[in-house]
Amino acid sequence: MVAFTLPKNSKIKPGRHVPAPQGAKGPIKQFKVYRYDPEDGGNPRWDTFDVPTDQVGPMVLDAVIYIKNNLDPTLAFRRSCREGVCGSCAMNIGGRNTLACTHAWADVPGKAISISPLPHMPVVKDLVPDLTMFFAQYASIEPWLHTDTPTPQKEWTQDPQDRAKLDGLYECILCACCSTSCPSYWWNGEKYLGPAALLQAYRWLADSRDEATGERLDNLDDPFKLYRCHTIMNCAQVCPKGLNPAKAIAEIKKMLVERVV
Ligand code: SF4
Ligand code: SF4
Ligand code: FES
Repeated sequence: MVAFTLPKNSKIKPGRHVPAPQGAKGPIKQFKVYRYDPEDGGNPRWDTFDVPTDQVGPMVLDAVIYIKNNLDPTLAFRRSCREGVCGSCAMNIGGRNTLACTHAWADVPGKAISISPLPHMPVVKDLVPDLTMFFAQYASIEPWLHTDTPTPQKEWTQDPQDRAKLDGLYECILCACCSTSCPSYWWNGEKYLGPAALLQAYRWLADSRDEATGERLDNLDDPFKLYRCHTIMNCAQVCPKGLNPAKAIAEIKKMLVERVV
Protein backbone atom coordinates (compact mmCIF):
# COMPACT_ATOMS: atom_id res chain seq x y z
CA MET A 1 0.00 0.00 0.00
CA VAL A 2 1.25 3.48 -0.82
CA ALA A 3 2.10 5.53 2.26
CA PHE A 4 1.56 9.25 1.89
CA THR A 5 3.46 11.71 4.00
CA LEU A 6 1.63 14.85 4.94
CA PRO A 7 3.60 18.06 4.40
CA LYS A 8 5.23 19.69 7.40
CA ASN A 9 2.80 21.77 9.43
CA SER A 10 -0.26 20.19 7.82
CA LYS A 11 -1.44 18.26 10.90
CA ILE A 12 -3.74 20.28 13.12
CA LYS A 13 -3.11 19.53 16.78
CA PRO A 14 -5.38 20.05 19.78
CA GLY A 15 -4.80 23.48 21.31
CA ARG A 16 -5.73 25.40 24.43
CA HIS A 17 -9.07 25.77 26.12
CA VAL A 18 -9.63 29.39 27.14
CA PRO A 19 -12.45 29.87 29.64
CA ALA A 20 -14.73 32.91 29.73
CA PRO A 21 -13.51 35.81 31.88
CA GLN A 22 -14.16 35.47 35.59
CA GLY A 23 -17.64 36.60 36.57
CA ALA A 24 -19.17 35.98 33.10
CA LYS A 25 -22.71 34.77 33.69
CA GLY A 26 -24.39 34.45 30.30
CA PRO A 27 -24.92 31.15 28.51
CA ILE A 28 -21.57 30.00 27.10
CA LYS A 29 -21.01 29.14 23.42
CA GLN A 30 -17.80 27.41 22.44
CA PHE A 31 -15.79 28.55 19.40
CA LYS A 32 -13.13 26.21 18.05
CA VAL A 33 -10.68 28.45 16.21
CA TYR A 34 -7.84 27.48 13.85
CA ARG A 35 -4.55 28.95 15.01
CA TYR A 36 -1.30 29.07 13.06
CA ASP A 37 1.73 31.25 13.54
CA PRO A 38 4.47 30.65 10.95
CA GLU A 39 6.99 32.35 13.21
CA ASP A 40 6.74 29.85 16.07
CA GLY A 41 7.57 26.89 13.80
CA GLY A 42 4.82 24.75 15.33
CA ASN A 43 1.90 22.97 13.74
CA PRO A 44 -1.51 24.59 13.51
CA ARG A 45 -3.87 23.89 16.41
CA TRP A 46 -7.52 24.20 17.37
CA ASP A 47 -8.02 26.56 20.32
CA THR A 48 -11.38 26.48 22.06
CA PHE A 49 -12.79 29.69 23.49
CA ASP A 50 -15.76 29.98 25.85
CA VAL A 51 -17.75 33.05 24.83
CA PRO A 52 -20.53 34.42 27.08
CA THR A 53 -23.31 34.96 24.57
CA ASP A 54 -24.95 37.80 26.48
CA GLN A 55 -21.86 39.93 25.84
CA VAL A 56 -21.56 39.56 22.06
CA GLY A 57 -23.58 40.74 19.08
CA PRO A 58 -25.40 38.24 16.89
CA MET A 59 -22.81 37.61 14.18
CA VAL A 60 -19.82 35.27 14.13
CA LEU A 61 -17.58 38.31 13.58
CA ASP A 62 -18.89 39.78 16.86
CA ALA A 63 -17.74 36.63 18.64
CA VAL A 64 -14.34 36.68 16.92
CA ILE A 65 -13.85 40.32 17.93
CA TYR A 66 -14.92 39.43 21.50
CA ILE A 67 -12.30 36.66 21.56
CA LYS A 68 -9.57 39.05 20.40
CA ASN A 69 -10.58 41.81 22.81
CA ASN A 70 -11.18 39.66 25.88
CA LEU A 71 -9.60 36.22 25.57
CA ASP A 72 -6.59 36.31 23.22
CA PRO A 73 -5.27 39.55 21.65
CA THR A 74 -2.92 37.56 19.37
CA LEU A 75 -5.76 36.18 17.23
CA ALA A 76 -5.35 37.40 13.61
CA PHE A 77 -8.24 37.87 11.18
CA ARG A 78 -9.37 40.35 8.53
CA ARG A 79 -12.42 42.56 8.67
CA SER A 80 -13.35 46.05 7.65
CA CYS A 81 -16.93 47.04 6.82
CA ARG A 82 -18.86 44.68 9.15
CA GLU A 83 -21.83 44.73 6.76
CA GLY A 84 -21.07 42.33 3.93
CA VAL A 85 -19.56 44.87 1.55
CA CYS A 86 -15.77 44.61 1.68
CA GLY A 87 -15.46 40.80 1.50
CA SER A 88 -12.49 40.73 3.87
CA CYS A 89 -14.00 38.64 6.70
CA ALA A 90 -14.61 35.52 4.59
CA MET A 91 -13.85 32.39 6.64
CA ASN A 92 -14.89 28.77 6.86
CA ILE A 93 -17.53 28.68 9.58
CA GLY A 94 -19.00 25.37 10.65
CA GLY A 95 -17.58 23.79 7.49
CA ARG A 96 -18.96 26.38 5.08
CA ASN A 97 -17.28 29.38 3.47
CA THR A 98 -19.13 32.56 4.30
CA LEU A 99 -18.78 36.09 5.67
CA ALA A 100 -18.32 36.24 9.43
CA CYS A 101 -20.03 39.63 9.62
CA THR A 102 -23.33 38.55 8.08
CA HIS A 103 -23.55 35.00 9.47
CA ALA A 104 -25.29 34.63 12.83
CA TRP A 105 -23.52 32.30 15.28
CA ALA A 106 -26.93 31.06 16.45
CA ASP A 107 -27.49 29.65 12.94
CA VAL A 108 -24.36 27.47 13.00
CA PRO A 109 -25.30 23.95 14.09
CA GLY A 110 -23.26 21.96 16.60
CA LYS A 111 -22.07 22.37 20.15
CA ALA A 112 -18.82 24.15 19.27
CA ILE A 113 -18.59 26.44 16.24
CA SER A 114 -15.49 25.73 14.18
CA ILE A 115 -13.82 28.67 12.43
CA SER A 116 -10.90 28.21 10.05
CA PRO A 117 -9.37 30.20 7.17
CA LEU A 118 -10.75 29.83 3.65
CA PRO A 119 -9.68 26.34 2.55
CA HIS A 120 -6.88 25.36 0.23
CA MET A 121 -5.00 28.64 0.38
CA PRO A 122 -1.67 29.25 2.10
CA VAL A 123 -2.22 30.70 5.58
CA VAL A 124 -0.49 33.91 6.60
CA LYS A 125 -1.56 33.61 10.25
CA ASP A 126 -4.60 32.17 12.07
CA LEU A 127 -7.69 33.10 10.01
CA VAL A 128 -5.83 35.16 7.39
CA PRO A 129 -5.38 33.37 4.04
CA ASP A 130 -2.83 34.47 1.46
CA LEU A 131 -4.96 35.78 -1.44
CA THR A 132 -2.05 36.91 -3.64
CA MET A 133 -2.80 34.40 -6.39
CA PHE A 134 -6.55 35.04 -6.18
CA PHE A 135 -6.10 38.76 -6.82
CA ALA A 136 -3.44 38.18 -9.50
CA GLN A 137 -5.99 36.03 -11.33
CA TYR A 138 -8.56 38.81 -10.94
CA ALA A 139 -6.06 41.32 -12.38
CA SER A 140 -5.41 38.95 -15.31
CA ILE A 141 -8.95 39.40 -16.62
CA GLU A 142 -8.30 43.17 -16.85
CA PRO A 143 -11.29 44.30 -14.79
CA TRP A 144 -11.83 47.70 -16.34
CA LEU A 145 -13.57 49.11 -19.39
CA HIS A 146 -11.66 48.68 -22.65
CA THR A 147 -12.80 51.17 -25.22
CA ASP A 148 -11.53 53.46 -27.94
CA THR A 149 -14.63 55.61 -27.65
CA PRO A 150 -13.75 58.94 -26.00
CA THR A 151 -14.74 58.77 -22.35
CA PRO A 152 -17.76 61.00 -21.64
CA GLN A 153 -17.19 63.85 -19.23
CA LYS A 154 -20.30 62.83 -17.28
CA GLU A 155 -21.81 59.48 -16.30
CA TRP A 156 -21.67 56.95 -19.14
CA THR A 157 -25.27 55.85 -19.34
CA GLN A 158 -26.65 52.56 -20.65
CA ASP A 159 -30.19 51.76 -21.64
CA PRO A 160 -32.11 49.81 -18.96
CA GLN A 161 -31.87 46.51 -20.87
CA ASP A 162 -28.07 46.72 -21.19
CA ARG A 163 -27.71 47.84 -17.60
CA ALA A 164 -29.83 44.87 -16.45
CA LYS A 165 -27.29 42.48 -18.02
CA LEU A 166 -24.85 43.44 -15.24
CA ASP A 167 -27.25 42.39 -12.46
CA GLY A 168 -26.00 39.29 -10.70
CA LEU A 169 -22.43 40.22 -11.66
CA TYR A 170 -21.57 43.70 -10.39
CA GLU A 171 -22.56 42.73 -6.82
CA CYS A 172 -19.52 40.47 -6.41
CA ILE A 173 -17.38 41.66 -3.50
CA LEU A 174 -14.38 39.38 -4.28
CA CYS A 175 -14.61 37.61 -0.94
CA ALA A 176 -13.18 34.37 -2.48
CA CYS A 177 -15.79 32.15 -0.78
CA CYS A 178 -16.68 30.63 -4.15
CA SER A 179 -13.20 29.98 -5.53
CA THR A 180 -12.00 28.41 -2.28
CA SER A 181 -15.01 26.08 -2.20
CA CYS A 182 -14.47 24.88 -5.78
CA PRO A 183 -12.83 21.43 -6.08
CA SER A 184 -11.50 22.27 -9.56
CA TYR A 185 -9.82 25.37 -8.12
CA TRP A 186 -8.35 23.29 -5.29
CA TRP A 187 -6.70 20.88 -7.73
CA ASN A 188 -5.74 23.35 -10.49
CA GLY A 189 -5.67 26.70 -8.70
CA GLU A 190 -2.55 27.91 -10.46
CA LYS A 191 -4.02 27.39 -13.92
CA TYR A 192 -7.79 27.49 -13.54
CA LEU A 193 -9.01 31.05 -12.93
CA GLY A 194 -11.78 29.92 -10.58
CA PRO A 195 -15.38 31.07 -10.26
CA ALA A 196 -14.75 34.56 -8.84
CA ALA A 197 -12.34 35.71 -11.56
CA LEU A 198 -14.52 34.13 -14.24
CA LEU A 199 -17.69 35.79 -12.95
CA GLN A 200 -15.78 39.07 -13.06
CA ALA A 201 -14.54 38.26 -16.58
CA TYR A 202 -18.13 37.80 -17.71
CA ARG A 203 -19.12 41.07 -16.00
CA TRP A 204 -16.91 42.90 -18.58
CA LEU A 205 -17.96 40.69 -21.49
CA ALA A 206 -21.58 41.54 -20.69
CA ASP A 207 -20.95 45.28 -20.52
CA SER A 208 -22.42 47.04 -23.59
CA ARG A 209 -19.77 49.79 -23.34
CA ASP A 210 -16.78 47.43 -23.54
CA GLU A 211 -15.14 47.01 -26.95
CA ALA A 212 -12.65 44.23 -26.23
CA THR A 213 -14.95 41.20 -26.41
CA GLY A 214 -12.73 39.38 -28.91
CA GLU A 215 -9.52 39.91 -26.94
CA ARG A 216 -11.24 38.96 -23.68
CA LEU A 217 -12.54 35.72 -25.22
CA ASP A 218 -9.13 34.95 -26.73
CA ASN A 219 -7.62 35.31 -23.27
CA LEU A 220 -10.12 32.87 -21.74
CA ASP A 221 -10.11 30.28 -24.53
CA ASP A 222 -7.76 27.93 -22.73
CA PRO A 223 -8.19 24.34 -21.51
CA PHE A 224 -7.28 25.31 -17.95
CA LYS A 225 -8.29 28.95 -17.41
CA LEU A 226 -11.96 28.32 -18.20
CA TYR A 227 -12.66 24.70 -19.00
CA ARG A 228 -11.81 23.22 -15.59
CA CYS A 229 -15.31 24.15 -14.39
CA HIS A 230 -17.26 20.90 -14.17
CA THR A 231 -20.51 22.46 -12.94
CA ILE A 232 -20.17 21.08 -9.43
CA MET A 233 -22.01 24.23 -8.23
CA ASN A 234 -20.31 24.67 -4.84
CA CYS A 235 -19.65 28.26 -5.92
CA ALA A 236 -23.32 29.18 -6.25
CA GLN A 237 -24.19 27.40 -3.02
CA VAL A 238 -21.77 29.36 -0.87
CA CYS A 239 -21.80 32.85 -2.42
CA PRO A 240 -22.88 35.15 0.42
CA LYS A 241 -24.25 37.65 -2.12
CA GLY A 242 -26.50 35.03 -3.76
CA LEU A 243 -24.61 35.13 -7.08
CA ASN A 244 -24.18 32.25 -9.50
CA PRO A 245 -20.60 32.10 -10.88
CA ALA A 246 -21.33 28.75 -12.58
CA LYS A 247 -23.97 30.46 -14.72
CA ALA A 248 -21.53 33.22 -15.68
CA ILE A 249 -18.97 30.56 -16.64
CA ALA A 250 -21.59 28.82 -18.79
CA GLU A 251 -22.32 32.16 -20.52
CA ILE A 252 -18.63 32.59 -21.37
CA LYS A 253 -18.51 29.08 -22.82
CA LYS A 254 -21.62 29.88 -24.84
CA MET A 255 -20.03 33.06 -26.23
CA LEU A 256 -16.98 31.06 -27.29
CA VAL A 257 -19.12 28.46 -29.07
CA GLU A 258 -21.22 31.12 -30.79
CA ARG A 259 -18.24 32.96 -32.20
CA VAL A 260 -16.94 29.72 -33.77
CA VAL A 261 -20.18 28.68 -35.49
S1 SF4 B 1 -19.08 35.48 -6.64
FE1 SF4 B 1 -19.86 35.59 -4.55
S2 SF4 B 1 -18.57 34.16 -3.39
FE2 SF4 B 1 -17.51 34.60 -5.30
S3 SF4 B 1 -16.10 36.25 -4.80
FE3 SF4 B 1 -18.00 37.17 -5.63
S4 SF4 B 1 -19.25 37.61 -3.83
FE4 SF4 B 1 -17.65 36.20 -3.16
S1 SF4 C 1 -19.57 25.11 -10.90
FE1 SF4 C 1 -17.52 25.32 -11.74
S2 SF4 C 1 -16.68 27.08 -10.70
FE2 SF4 C 1 -18.48 26.46 -9.54
S3 SF4 C 1 -17.68 25.12 -7.94
FE3 SF4 C 1 -18.21 23.86 -9.66
S4 SF4 C 1 -16.36 23.60 -10.88
FE4 SF4 C 1 -16.06 25.32 -9.48
S1 FES D 1 -16.22 42.80 7.29
FE1 FES D 1 -16.63 43.45 5.24
S2 FES D 1 -17.70 41.78 4.38
FE2 FES D 1 -17.43 41.21 6.47
